[in-house]
Amino acid sequence: MALSPAKLNLYLDVGSRRDDGYHEIETLFVALDWGDQVLVSVRPSEDGVHLQLSGDVSVPDDEQNLAWRAAAIWRQAAGEATGDAPDVAVDLSKSIPVGSGLGGGSSNAATVLRRANAKLGKPLPDAELYAMARDIGSDVAFFLTGGAAIGRGRGDRIEPLTGGTPLPVVLILPPIMCSTPTVYAQVKAPLRPAPENGLDAAIHALRAGDPKALRDAHFNALAIPALTAYPPLLRFTSDVERRLGRAPCLSGSGSALFDIPDADDVQNVLDKLDGLPGERIVANLVP
Ligand code: C5P
Repeated sequence: MALSPAKLNLYLDVGSRRDDGYHEIETLFVALDWGDQVLVSVRPSEDGVHLQLSGDVSVPDDEQNLAWRAAAIWRQAAGEATGDAPDVAVDLSKSIPVGSGLGGGSSNAATVLRRANAKLGKPLPDAELYAMARDIGSDVAFFLTGGAAIGRGRGDRIEPLTGGTPLPVVLILPPIMCSTPTVYAQVKAPLRPAPENGLDAAIHALRAGDPKALRDAHFNALAIPALTAYPPLLRFTSDVERRLGRAPCLSGSGSALFDIPDADDVQNVLDKLDGLPGERIVANLVP
């Protein structure tokens, strides 16, 4: 099994809506050392693509699942490259909740593309994997490299970053699912303006491994649209803010919140959140 990591957006600015319906964004992605587990085998399977699910199985096990789509797209392209379409079997153990803004489905798809291609001795070049990733979804390209990266365009133009410092984060997962299109549909000008040099400040804080600077630099232009679209998430976020004495961060289009505690404050943060509905997870940023 390989880790198919979750991601956080430490910074997310949203610009105008394009002709293709997507919004221009500028974001700082960081992968976590926590997520789903994926086993990819290139072996005979009755249907060409086989997907076996375990864990939180509230996700579809057919072509609606991004891991299934990745396996099918890779299988076809690898078949064209090698002259023989290889069958792909994917065992997926889910921990990342659906509709959380943590990129679970996108991460699963990228892991399938990478592992299947590696298993067969890399018949497809990286550039082709990137093109497939972008076809599957806006966040999939990031997960091909992972670590920390700036995402531009619709989030699929990736500039990998180096020099980040691992840091603990507390994920605060409410029992609420957010639909990304529903949240983007709430994006109406004028949006809350991003802080000046906000992306640079977030990158600097990540490189310095400074939790307070990261909390201060965190910005998510989708926060107000998400809280507007999902009033229970607004109530949940207010409750977290009251308990912590500071505003939590929202990842992507939600619903996952997170806090970046000072190094010796993780347990204290967990204690303050005790009794809230949903789940809390301590993970590390692995930039
Ligand atoms: O690319 P993905 O399938 O994850 O996007 C889901 C939906 O989120 C899109 O159909 C679009 O409505 C919205 N979206 C957007 N701008 C982005 C990314 C996603 O409007 N940059």
